[in-house]
Amino acid sequence: MEKCILVTGGAGLVGNAVRRRLESQGRKVVAIDLAERTRDGAPLTFCDLGDIHRLHAIATDNAIDGIVHCGAHSGPMVARDNPYSMVQVNVVGTANMLELARVHKVRRMVFCSSTSAYGDTPEGLVPEDVPLRPTSVYGGSKAASEALLWTYWRQFGVDALAIRLSWVYGPGRTTDCIIRTMIEDALAGRPTRMPFGQDFHRQFIHVEDAVSALLLALDAGEMPRRIYTVTGETYATLGEISEVVKRVLPQADIALQPGPDPVDDVHRRFDITAAKRDLGYAPQFDLETGIRSYAGWLAARTA
Ligand SMILES: NC(=O)c1ccc[n+]([C@@H]2O[C@H](COP(=O)([O-])OP(=O)(O)OC[C@H]3O[C@@H](n4cnc5c(N)ncnc54)[C@H](O)[C@@H]3O)[C@@H](O)[C@H]2O)c1
Repeated sequence: MEKCILVTGGAGLVGNAVRRRLESQGRKVVAIDLAERTRDGAPLTFCDLGDIHRLHAIATDNAIDGIVHCGAHSGPMVARDNPYSMVQVNVVGTANMLELARVHKVRRMVFCSSTSAYGDTPEGLVPEDVPLRPTSVYGGSKAASEALLWTYWRQFGVDALAIRLSWVYGPGRTTDCIIRTMIEDALAGRPTRMPFGQDFHRQFIHVEDAVSALLLALDAGEMPRRIYTVTGETYATLGEISEVVKRVLPQADIALQPGPDPVDDVHRRFDITAAKRDLGYAPQFDLETGIRSYAGWLAARTA
């Protein structure tokens, strides 16, 4: 049987882009989600991350060689009032993937963790091994999933890696995203006004760079560590990001007030040296390139 890669969250921003990249490499993919098709019409296999029996059946019917686990409640803004569901989907869902990897002897599993696992970070460059102090149940669900991943590796030798992604933007994002809001407002001739953010840093990564990091992790040989932080190497304030949007779309009318995002962590610059060194990761999208191509994609959809 031809080996295949299981991609979870196949209808989502990252999972769909991972599926597309793998298929463009001629690889066999089984992509699962709660939807039966992606937004561009590609077929998906319907499966809840909590349905361990169905997951085992899918793994038995397909020679699963690798897993890229992107399915989740994908941010603190999702299921905000339902922490139980956050734990079920994110922690139990990841535990189920680790079980699949253990029982079906999967070569490599890659888990989409998040920089939300850090919570507010200390001054200076932030390496992977600072203590995790998440401030949301979402961040806690990622930290807890990483602990399970680590212990499945230590106790059972399950070869899983966690990639802590920073804020992902680009074609296909459906949850809140300030970059998309700024672009969509500019395209619609609406002003963008925000009561915070002018001096607040956020480290974005373009979805295609996120995919590259995940697939480098999927295909890498033996790894010296389990956990890598991956950003687009963009450490910019929302005010600076708004200036990039204005360069791309000169009609943009954006005004932000100073101060932090009240529902986000304060993150210092993340150190991505380990991902560069061990995975060969090199982001291809600086903010202007990424925002320009995202604006083109959004404009084509609204035309
Ligand atoms: N988007 C970001 O900024 C960001 C940043 C850091 C980490 N991450 C992580 O990356 C991963 C992918 O994020 P994304 O932006 O593609 O999210 P997304 O919301 O676009 O996609 C997540 C997908 O998971 C699916 N899903 C949710 N619950 C499910 C369930 N019970 N069973 C099966 N499928 C289910 C959803 O239907 C959705 O298609 C997530 O783990 C997320 O936490 C995302």
